[in-house]
This record gives sequence, structure tokens and C-alpha cells, in this order.
Amino acid sequence: MIRIALITLVILGMMVLGSAITLYLLKEHRLQQHAEREATIAEIGEKYAMVFLRNLRRQRLRVIKEQGPVAGFEFCSDNALAITLAAEDSLPSGVKIKRTSLKYRNPDNAPSPAEIEALEFFEDTFQHQFTPPEYYLQTIGDSLHPRYNYYKPLKIEGLCMHCHGTETTIPPKVQQLLTDYYPEDKATGYQPNDFRGVVRVTIPAELIP
Ligand code: HEC
Repeated sequence: MIRIALITLVILGMMVLGSAITLYLLKEHRLQQHAEREATIAEIGEKYAMVFLRNLRRQRLRVIKEQGPVAGFEFCSDNALAITLAAEDSLPSGVKIKRTSLKYRNPDNAPSPAEIEALEFFEDTFQHQFTPPEYYLQTIGDSLHPRYNYYKPLKIEGLCMHCHGTETTIPPKVQQLLTDYYPEDKATGYQPNDFRGVVRVTIPAELIP
């Protein structure tokens, strides 16, 4: 009697253990799938962000080198938005691109609540981490039409100081244009390596393989 009870107990124990191991492996598998999908979204987001950034940086640098920071300022003012739209046009349909910041210059670039969440994440990590994360991801839209927001952080570099720096780095003529064009400007006073803002790339879920 006792022997039968013991054998039953061992068999039951093995079944429970077996189920627990299966559940654990399934969960691991799902986590791995999730991480792989996240990596794919990030890879695509980065690629699209760079299509836009490379174009903007190349054109801005050329104008500044050939005509100086005042012409560069006017160039950014007149063309930054058009360059964003041109990048969207060259990418698969449904992809959206925006530059935004908590301290924005152009009120048209002001952040939405979802963007504020991402911007605050980077503000915090740039202050507290030696190597801040390379991106931030969000799922938006409804379950029928999910979309992903990929955020790429932008850091202040030497060149940016002409137009986003301090009195010692912003030429007086640029300062004058700033006051004329953007009386509510929040985007000065930066130092090199400061977190400046993000490029946001929205990718419809159906574009993720
Ligand atoms: C020649 C002047 C100039 C330089 C150099 C410059 N910017 Fe700007 N920046 C502007 C102007 C003007 C705007 C507003 C134009 C717009 O997007 O409508 C702007 C807007 C931005 C925005 C969009 C959010 C906002 O504030 O409206 C970001 C982000 C930004 N700049 C980051 C940078 C970074 C990073 C660098 C250096 C790599 C840089 N800028 C260099 C003039 C400049």
C-alpha cells in the first residue's frame, strides 16, 4: 500500500515538475521573441532616422561652411521641416518623422505627451548614466493598427553651439535673428554633450517583418 502511494507521489511530482519546466521554457521563448522583435524595430528605426539626419546634417554643414552661421540659421529655419517631409516621402508609406525637444525653438516642434515621456527618459538617463541608452521604444495606436515610436537621442556637438550655445558661442547676428524669428525660444544655453532632443520615427507594425 505504502509503496503504491509512494510511486503515485513520485509520478505526480514528476508531472508537476515537467509542466513547470515546459511553462518556464515557453516563457523564455516568448521573452526571446519579444527581444528579437524589439531589436528589429530599433534597427529599422535607426536606419530611417539616419536617412533624415544625414541629409539635414550634410546640407546644414555645407551652408555653414560656405556662407557662415547666419545663412546656416536661416537655412535651418526655412528648410528643417521640408527636409523632414522629404525624408518621409523617400521612406515606406506610413513612416513619420519629427524632431522634438523639451526646450524647443520652433513651437511646431513642441512635444506630445508620448514624446514628453521619451524626452524625460533621456533627460534622466543622460544625467545619471555615463553611457546613455541609444534609443527608446513605444507602442502606440490601437490593437488593430499598432505603430511603434523609435526615438533617437541627439547630443549637442561643437557645430550646434553656433545656434544653441551661449552668448560666447552664438554670433550677435544669429542672436538677433533668434529674437526676431523665435521670441519664445527655449533652445539656447547648451554645452557640448548635453542632451538636446530626439528624432522620433513612427513605424506602422506591418512594416516589421
Ligand atoms: C545654423 C544654426 C543651427 C545649427 C548649427 C543647429 N541648429 Fe538646431 N535648430 C536651428 C533652428 C533655426 C531650429 C528651428 C527650425 C525648425 O526645426 O523649424 C532648430 C531646431 C532644432 C531641433 C528641433 C526642436 C526645436 O528646438 O525646434 C533640434 C532637436 C535641434 N535643432 C538640434 C540641433 C543639434 C543637435 C545641432 C547640432 C548637431 C543643431 N541643432 C545645430 C538652428 C540650428
